[in-house]
Amino acid sequence: MQMKGTQRINAAGHLEIGGCDTVELAREFGTPLYVLDEAQVRGLCREYLQQFGARYHHVMVAYAGKALLTKAICAIMESEGLHLDVCSAGELYTALDADFPPEHIKFHGNMKLAEELQMCIDNHVGLIVADSLPELGDINELGAGNGTVVDIAIRVSPGIKAQTHTYTQTGRLDSKFGLGVEYGAAMAGIVAASEMPHLALRGIHCHIGSPIFALESYERAVEIMVDLVADAREQHGIELADLNLGGGLGIRYTHEDAPPSIEHFAERLCGAVLRRCEERGIDPPTLTLEPGRSLVGEAGTTLYTIGVIKDIPGVRTYVAVDGGLSDNPRPALYGAQYEAIIANKANEPASRAVRVAGRHCEADTLISDTTVQEPECGDILAVFATGAYNYSMASNYNRFPRPAMVLVNDGEAELITERETLADLVRQDLVPERLRAQREVAEAE
Ligand code: LLP
Repeated sequence: MQMKGTQRINAAGHLEIGGCDTVELAREFGTPLYVLDEAQVRGLCREYLQQFGARYHHVMVAYAGKALLTKAICAIMESEGLHLDVCSAGELYTALDADFPPEHIKFHGNMKLAEELQMCIDNHVGLIVADSLPELGDINELGAGNGTVVDIAIRVSPGIKAQTHTYTQTGRLDSKFGLGVEYGAAMAGIVAASEMPHLALRGIHCHIGSPIFALESYERAVEIMVDLVADAREQHGIELADLNLGGGLGIRYTHEDAPPSIEHFAERLCGAVLRRCEERGIDPPTLTLEPGRSLVGEAGTTLYTIGVIKDIPGVRTYVAVDGGLSDNPRPALYGAQYEAIIANKANEPASRAVRVAGRHCEADTLISDTTVQEPECGDILAVFATGAYNYSMASNYNRFPRPAMVLVNDGEAELITERETLADLVRQDLVPERLRAQREVAEAE
């Protein structure tokens, strides 16, 4: 097991993250527990800014909040000088409630609600990334109604099939996202937007999918996107000042994953943009990136308590933990793979082949095949690389309360999301009077 960020094995032989003993974290905060390594998140933010900044004249990094968003995360991203990409009223509300500077927020979505667009305008959100031709008209009208000019970018579908799960190949021709380059919609949108008096067209955006391990897909997207910038200028005299290439960089979920480093990513991406701009004879636009997973994914670890161990002779050993599908739906949704260790036996050999199962009422496989230390009931299992798209995709399936999240740094652990309570689960429930009356009648009989 390769340790990441501030992870190490302490003198007690326990897994430690951010200077905190994870076995003690489990005892203090309960399990399942999301643990986030603050130093690792901050280090990666700085790495992005530094590696891209060293190679490109003007780079903006906007954290994609869909990976993991809480008010404390907003504060961390703001303090690191990152901008924020949000894609719903809920994410926007979180950011505004955390006092994230609205001018540094970009609002995305393939089907934004009228209320969401109005919320963006009322709160002076920095940029709306428009996703369709009708939406351009809607935003223009809203701008007119509010006596303002709205800064927008246009989401473009570059027609690339990135090598990733088909559910997350978001930049290919057959996609609900953006305006296609191949069939002329992207240029039509650019021209239409630049003619609308209440829109200020700042640039174009694409996101080709995630997680991506092969950088060739990005290089192809860059050529198509830079060509669009150059064509808009040559054919229509339209300047597109910002080129947003989205997020998508893969992370190391297991020892078999070999994602490109941020340095390598920056080198290839900046190189491709600069090269194509030179070939097309245009000044390089400003560059925006929207990483989510690669900033928070590996910084997250989920702690579970092992409850039941079942040996099925000749088949396998099942290790059941006190969470699963509701705190991490990714194995079920995408066949995602994870690795784990037993946190209280971190320096013992991992020689026992097991399947880790959750406790939801279906197969609920968290890790289909892995080797861990000899498991016993009550042990703490730490599953790595759960920082992205775990809490943000968590549900109350089987009416499980969602876990708490602690931020660890320099030996301190602070709650940043409280554990949901059983009372939270019924807070929204209503019982029509008719049903109560029915019970009273039944009881009277
Ligand atoms: N920008 C846009 C417009 C996006 O749609 C996304 C992700 C990102 C940026 C950030 O991508 P990242 O750097 O995090 O890969 N639930 C899936 C991932 C869906 C990603 C959707 N869009 C999963 O758990 O793998």
